[in-house]
Amino acid sequence: MKEIEKARDELRSEFESLADKKLVLRSVKLKALFDGIKEIEPDKRAEYGKAVNALKNELEAWIDEHASNNSYAEIEAIDVTAPWDINTSSDEKPRILTSDRGSKHPLRTEIELIINIYQRMGFAVEESREIDDDYHMFESLNFPEGHPARDDYDTFMTDEGLIAPAHTSTMQNRVLRKYAGNLDKGEPIAVVVPDRVFRNEDLDATHEHTFYQIEGVYVGKGVTVGNLIATLSAFMNEYFGQELKTKLQPFYFPFTEPSFEFAIERPDVLKKDDSEEQKWLELLGCGMIHPNVLKSAGIDPEVYTGFAWGNGIERMVMMKNQIEDIRHFESGNLKFLRQF
Ligand code: DAH
Repeated sequence: MKEIEKARDELRSEFESLADKKLVLRSVKLKALFDGIKEIEPDKRAEYGKAVNALKNELEAWIDEHASNNSYAEIEAIDVTAPWDINTSSDEKPRILTSDRGSKHPLRTEIELIINIYQRMGFAVEESREIDDDYHMFESLNFPEGHPARDDYDTFMTDEGLIAPAHTSTMQNRVLRKYAGNLDKGEPIAVVVPDRVFRNEDLDATHEHTFYQIEGVYVGKGVTVGNLIATLSAFMNEYFGQELKTKLQPFYFPFTEPSFEFAIERPDVLKKDDSEEQKWLELLGCGMIHPNVLKSAGIDPEVYTGFAWGNGIERMVMMKNQIEDIRHFESGNLKFLRQF
């Protein structure tokens, strides 16, 4: 019971600091209390379980209270699509329950969680775009015309030759240019870009034409593979709430040299058994930014070096929430969405 009291205080301070108050329900602290139920001796279990549930109800009450104190709630919004006359008095209008107001899409919730970690690590956040050109998608990333690796990206293209970005790397050149001033001040360029990407894929449970990636770029003086490993490990440890071993395997991308596939030891929350196949989890592509990519953004590769990485988001959300089919995310199926 003492432990629950203590967790309550910690959750309260966590709650105070959250921009999106609903995220308190996803706190690892609350999950740990629920997971603890099965560890409790059988005769105390009911009492403990009740107290944990009461705490969860209390968190929900904090969220509701916060929502109703929120100044937006005081101004009555005009819903032009509402099926009643605008002059209908509020008592005559159908009541809308807080619980019916909908919720954030699970991908949005996850992206907020992810960028919150990177922001605390000092990264700025930029958006990508939904239409781009050959230069940003390929040329500036060291895929010259006719380069065979272009075919790996199954790009959607308009008749005019514009491209729906097939990776968030399409933003590397812009981000490097936008933040190049940091280097003159002796500061690094440190940016993440979470956004949608599009590929002309054959669709199945693990392939969707529209999905999300998060790109990261870090450039400065004397930046090495050691910094790459340290940065990605720090992120993964924070995201999964556990110290994890990491593994780099050689790979190929035109825009990095050397290029790697970054794997982590499978976190406890995602472990099914102790078999060798369950041991490592390959999560992302990364590498040291190719000198030609730095040059194309006007950065001298003799003076500065950097690393970059690109990570799919759906897979992380699917593993965390045991979602079996990637196509649910874009389906707009309320039965799926209401679970979150
Ligand atoms: N753009 C790559 C893809 O979609 C992922 C990636 C790999 C991004 C390595 C990077 C990187 O920035 O360094 O397959």
